[in-house]
Formats: sequence, structure tokens, C-alpha cells
Amino acid sequence: MTSLFDLVTQQVGKGIALALVALLSAAVYVIGRVVWREIRRFGCFLYSRHRTLSAVARTTTKDGTREGNGVWIAQPIEQPDDYKSNFHGAKVLAIANLKGGVGKTTLAANIGAFLSHDQRWNKRVLLIDLDFQGSLSSMVLPEDERWLPPAGQDSLASRMISGDLDAGLLVSCAKPTQHQPRLKIITAHYDLAQADNRLLIEWLLKCRNRAEKSVRRALGDLLYGKLFKRYDVRYNLADVLHSDAVREAFDLVIIDCPPRLTTGTIQALCASSHLLVPTILDRPSAEAVLRFCEQVEGLKSANICPHLKVLGAVGSKYRDGLNAENGASARIADRLREMKVGYGMLPNILFFPQTVELVRDATDGIAYFVMANNDSGKKARTAIEALSTYIAQHIGLPPDPASHTPFVSTQQVNAK
Ligand SMILES: Nc1ncnc2c1ncn2[C@@H]1O[C@H](COP(=O)(O)OP(=O)(O)OP(=O)(O)O)[C@@H](O)[C@H]1O
Ligand SMILES: [Mg+2]
Repeated sequence: MTSLFDLVTQQVGKGIALALVALLSAAVYVIGRVVWREIRRFGCFLYSRHRTLSAVARTTTKDGTREGNGVWIAQPIEQPDDYKSNFHGAKVLAIANLKGGVGKTTLAANIGAFLSHDQRWNKRVLLIDLDFQGSLSSMVLPEDERWLPPAGQDSLASRMISGDLDAGLLVSCAKPTQHQPRLKIITAHYDLAQADNRLLIEWLLKCRNRAEKSVRRALGDLLYGKLFKRYDVRYNLADVLHSDAVREAFDLVIIDCPPRLTTGTIQALCASSHLLVPTILDRPSAEAVLRFCEQVEGLKSANICPHLKVLGAVGSKYRDGLNAENGASARIADRLREMKVGYGMLPNILFFPQTVELVRDATDGIAYFVMANNDSGKKARTAIEALSTYIAQHIGLPPDPASHTPFVSTQQVNAK
């Protein structure tokens, strides 16, 4: 039986027939790819619609309608390879509380300044600003506008949470501070608000499959049985902060979170080995701490950030034990004990005192570097030292082996 190819060869000659076959194959290949892409898009659309709606679904019971657990508890959870083992020895501290103005940024900057500058520690510290207001960025780099992203470019924080800064780039882009080159920062600006929203929406709507990236990657994924592993925006920061390059360049990473559960905040919780919750000691702030701790526990038990260790809540703007402050502190401690979460209020001796020495204009810089040597300055320095030392010891940061100056030990702090 004569094949179609033979017929065509007889009519137009073998060379042209072969060329036609090649052209036809190319056309089939291109059309096939387009059709396959559209089928996948449609599948994604159906799946993501279901996923988005279930992520924000309310529950209705006989008692009434209740909002769901929130979008960040959404399943499935696709943690990076070796996510659990990467936490071994990781030193990443998130400073977070969903209440605004409680001293998160002040604590982050001063703890970083102390641990990088004090000769007993001499640590290489990376600060990460995840608040689009850029308060930490302007506090750490006050001397000029180096922290503002160049015109037409996104801030470093936006690029980082989008997964566009690989580890090597992150290390080279981190900006050193004027007072202490061992202290560096990844800066944020207003574009971060848009990046936070974009990433959430992209993640919910577009099931970006890893296989889309390249044929080589797809084949690798197929080999390792991960072809259908989906992109999970919650782990972008973990991916980069747990890399060898970042671990080699920095002894400690401190993340200053915004007072909202943004994409950046959730990434910080998933990337951090430890969490510190600063709070003002008044009634509404005590409620906010408890609410936040409940949310963190929810995320941990949903296996989203199961390895996060909470150091506890710490008082800021502390006015030396007014009745109201003691009441708020006791309420937080009691409730956390009832919740059996394994952490509570840190000892009073670690609280940051309320003092003008810690209040900085955008042009002043980090208080620890520039504050006066008067009584309140000394008191603030002692508090910074005590809290930083406590944190370093609990995170497992060793003191600088070359230093022989003694410092307050955790046992001494706990004993007070
Ligand atoms: N110990 C302190 N004593 C006096 N003022 C303080 C102290 N700590 C912080 N402040 C002041 O309180 C204000 C809020 O502090 P900060 O920006 O650190 O809080 P935050 O929790 O990071 O706020 P946000 O939620 O807006 O990011 C700032 O003006 C800061 O200077
Ligand atoms: Mg802040």
C-alpha cells in the first residue's frame, strides 16, 4: 500500500516532501504546545477558583456564621526540599506583632546594632525590613537616601519576597550601615505593599507549576517525582535565607515585620527559627499579643511553620512596673500558660524602658550608636544589652571567641 509520503514524493520529489514533513511537524508541535498550555490554564482556572474560595470560606453552624481561618492556612502546603533539615542551626529571628507602634522596629535595629558592634559578639547581622513604610531602612541608613530604590526599580524587599533575589545577589545587595559595616540591611519601600498583594493573588489564582520553568527542570522534577509539586509563595524567603551563601555571609538574620499578616510576614514566619513578640503593656496590646500568638499557633499546627520557636513576649516602652503594666503583663503570662504553648512573658529585666533616648528622627540613626551617655541613655543601653544577650543565648549564637569580656548570662537574667 502506498503511503501518503510516497504519493507526495512521486508528485513533488523527495526533498520537497521531506521539507513538507518537517514543516508539518513543526506546526503540529507549536499548535500542540498552545493547546496543551490552554488546557492547563483551564485546569488551573478551575482548581484555583476552588482553592481561592476555600481559602477565604466562612463556616456556617447552627450557632451562626463564622469567618474561616484565613487565607494563609490554605492547603496544599508545598515546603521546599529539605525544609526541615535546613532549620538545623538556622539563626533567623522574626520580630512581629500585628499591633502597630509597639516597638518592633526599635527592637530590631538596636538588637542588630548591639550584636554586630559589641566586642563580645562581633556578629555579622543582616536586618530585613518587611514594612513598606521603610521605617527600619530609614533608621539604619539615615545619612543619605541610599536605601531608596533607583527610579523604575522595585525595592530589595519586594524582589526578595517575589523570589527574584537569589542568595548570592541578596548577599551582595545588602547595604552596610555607616556605623558598623558588619550590620547590613535589605531595604523596603512603598512598592512592597503592591508586591505583597500581587504575590498573594498570583499564588491563589495561578497554580504556577515548576515544570513551566524549563524542560531540563521538568525532566529533573519528573526523575525525582516532583513534577506536580506546586509553587508555594509562603516559602520564598525560607528558600533564600536557608541557603549556604546567606549562612556563610551572616551569623544572624533579624526580620522586622509589619503590623499586618502580609505575604512578607507569612514568609518571615516560615523562614524564621525564632520569633519575638514586643508589646506595650496596656490592656488592648495584651489582647493583641494573645490574638497573634493564637494565630501563630494555628499556623504551626497546620504545619505551615512547624519549626518556629517563640521566645516569648517582651515589654517595650516600659515605665517601671506601673499597676496597669503589671496587670497587662500578668494577663499575657497567665493566658499563655493556660494555652500551654511553652512560652510566656520574658522577665521584666529584659523589657525596653520608655525613654526619649530610644526615640529617633529619620536623620538620627540607630539609638544604640548615637544615644547620649546620660542616665537614661545608660539605662537604655543596659536594656539593649540584656535583651540582645538573652536572645543570642537562646538562639545559640556563640560569643566571639577572641573576646574575654564577661557578659550577663541567661541564668543571671532568669534569676532576677
Ligand atoms: N522604648 C521606647 N521608648 C520611647 N519611645 C519608643 C520606644 N520604643 C519605640 N518608641 C517610639 O514609638 C514609636 C513606634 O516605635 P516602632 O516604630 O519601633 O514601633 P513598630 O511596632 O515598629 O511600629 P509599626 O507597627 O508602625 O511598624 C516610634 O516613634 C518610636 O520612636
Ligand atoms: Mg515598625
